[in-house]
Amino acid sequence: MCGIFAYAGTENAVPLLIEGLRSVEYRGYDSAGISVIDSSGEIQTVKRGDHKASLENLAVAAGESQLSGVVGIGHTRWATHGEVNQQNSHPHASSDGSVSIAHNGIIENFIELKDQLVDSGFEFKSETDSEVLAHLVGNRVAAGSSLREAVIGAAGQIKGNTAIVAVSKAEPDVVVGLRVGNAGGIVVGKSDHAAVMASDTIALLPYTSEVIYLEPGEVVEIEHGDVRLFDLQGSTITREPVVTAQNFEAAQKGNHPHFMSKEIAEEPDAVQGAMRGRADFSAGTLSLPEISLTSEKLKSIDRVVLTGMGTSLHAAMFGASVIESLARIPATAENSSELRYRNPVLGPNTLIVAVTQSGETADTLAAMEHARNAGSPQGVVLELEGSQATRIADFTLPVRAGQEIGVASTKTLIGSMTTLLELAVVLAETRGVIDAVQVKTIVESMAELPSLIAKTLELNGQVSELADRLSKFEDLLYLGRGAQLPIALEGALKMKELAYIHAEGYAAGEMKHGVNALLGDDMATVVAAPQNDLYEKMLSNISEVKARGGEVAAIATEGDEMIGRVADHVIYVPKCPELLQPFVTLVPMQILAYRTALALGRDPDKPRNLAKTVTVE
Ligand code: F6R
Repeated sequence: MCGIFAYAGTENAVPLLIEGLRSVEYRGYDSAGISVIDSSGEIQTVKRGDHKASLENLAVAAGESQLSGVVGIGHTRWATHGEVNQQNSHPHASSDGSVSIAHNGIIENFIELKDQLVDSGFEFKSETDSEVLAHLVGNRVAAGSSLREAVIGAAGQIKGNTAIVAVSKAEPDVVVGLRVGNAGGIVVGKSDHAAVMASDTIALLPYTSEVIYLEPGEVVEIEHGDVRLFDLQGSTITREPVVTAQNFEAAQKGNHPHFMSKEIAEEPDAVQGAMRGRADFSAGTLSLPEISLTSEKLKSIDRVVLTGMGTSLHAAMFGASVIESLARIPATAENSSELRYRNPVLGPNTLIVAVTQSGETADTLAAMEHARNAGSPQGVVLELEGSQATRIADFTLPVRAGQEIGVASTKTLIGSMTTLLELAVVLAETRGVIDAVQVKTIVESMAELPSLIAKTLELNGQVSELADRLSKFEDLLYLGRGAQLPIALEGALKMKELAYIHAEGYAAGEMKHGVNALLGDDMATVVAAPQNDLYEKMLSNISEVKARGGEVAAIATEGDEMIGRVADHVIYVPKCPELLQPFVTLVPMQILAYRTALALGRDPDKPRNLAKTVTVE
């Protein structure tokens, strides 16, 4: 979703702004623009609303117009109000052109504010909610406020979560940034003669690894190599930077054609990263030193509610299933956008576990805040450390899969599942449900996870053939049971988002209750059917599909000859303990969606209409 990058220094900001925007484009965008203050003190703005070509076209346009200046702001937009076009792209100018702003978030009272501004004679050039802010800030600057005061004042007039960056002709060396609520982060850093801010840490890494994350309700002014932090009342805040562990190299594609293929290939490492420092394979023990709750507190937990959105919700579902089965605590997974609004019964004995790659998903953050207000202890399983979710949770379990750039989440999911499995084991042992010998058995089997996943990656060729076949269908059904249900749901989600094929994920037992009406030769079915207690039930489901003329592709355990007699296509995954089966069935599901997307000529790294970080609800 929308990205921000701003620079205040001594070099020409234009190429730096464009580079900064390139590093946040992975969030998803359809327009891009920059404003710089030129040598005569005027604000010059170039923007493009050309969908994925926006950044390239912006770079060309900025070069052709010989734009230059040492201070500027840039933005990648993901349209929420108004179509994708140049006028609606950010930055937006105040009516007198003395201020330019870029904005992330949604201004919930924008119609009311826009009506007031229009009544007072302001002319709007775009259909966006964000332009309201440009006029509000411009008004205040015209009345004599400093840019910082004006941004704070304008933010006070709007409702909704907001992140803003702004420049003003009156203070040509300064960029102001502000964060209210959770509309994506703002992170700030400086090098010798420049200070920079962005929505993502990765954009700062060419400058520094020492960064400051803005908390909600904080404002920053950057000027040359200076960073000044304030609260909304204007009082100075002193905060030491933190050293980020994110790595710029890791964010490059390397020799892979797409980030997605690179990130799937990194899954054995992702799993290893999630076990580092936690699983001791020689001693056969497992600990999560990050959990800050006492063992008394953990023992008093009588319910676990896991929450997240999209792929992270599927991780949460997997987590609920292993926590309940291993630790014997009632555990459920719920979509954060539902949890946040339905006034759930939570309390001090309900442990909340949020799952989020970005740590900035608006609905997930809101559900976490709701749980915090209800007095529930909570942890977050997350990839992007330093993000807002870590500041709401009582403890953070970093996934450590490494930065994920492809919009569709892959290696983070497998890393989150590993972390959740660890959490389930730790809860089970702390509560005395399993003993050290059982923990040792699980830890020994987990030691094989990286190589099991690496073996699964070798299925690429076979999965490609299946992808060619499935790319001919307009409808697909994905079936699973038990811990394979979230995997089936994830397989369907990936197929929808990457290949744009309609795909439904279903609990296999639910078929007779409606879905069977759709079966026939125009819908293929993908079945997660490794050998476990539910295997025979899955065989019956496959037969039901076959009996109605449907084509079936099964993901099954190697050595299973029976399944080859009922399914049309079989992808064999390595044999492993049942607890680990969801990991090995997940990987072919991901590769299948990736390969089908390629077969249909889609861009798997940037699926249409989707954003990597969803900072609005
Ligand atoms: C799908 C995908 C999304 C995210 C969802 C939550 O491939 O990536 O469904 O999982 O938007 O995002 P995070 O995990 O950042 O909270």
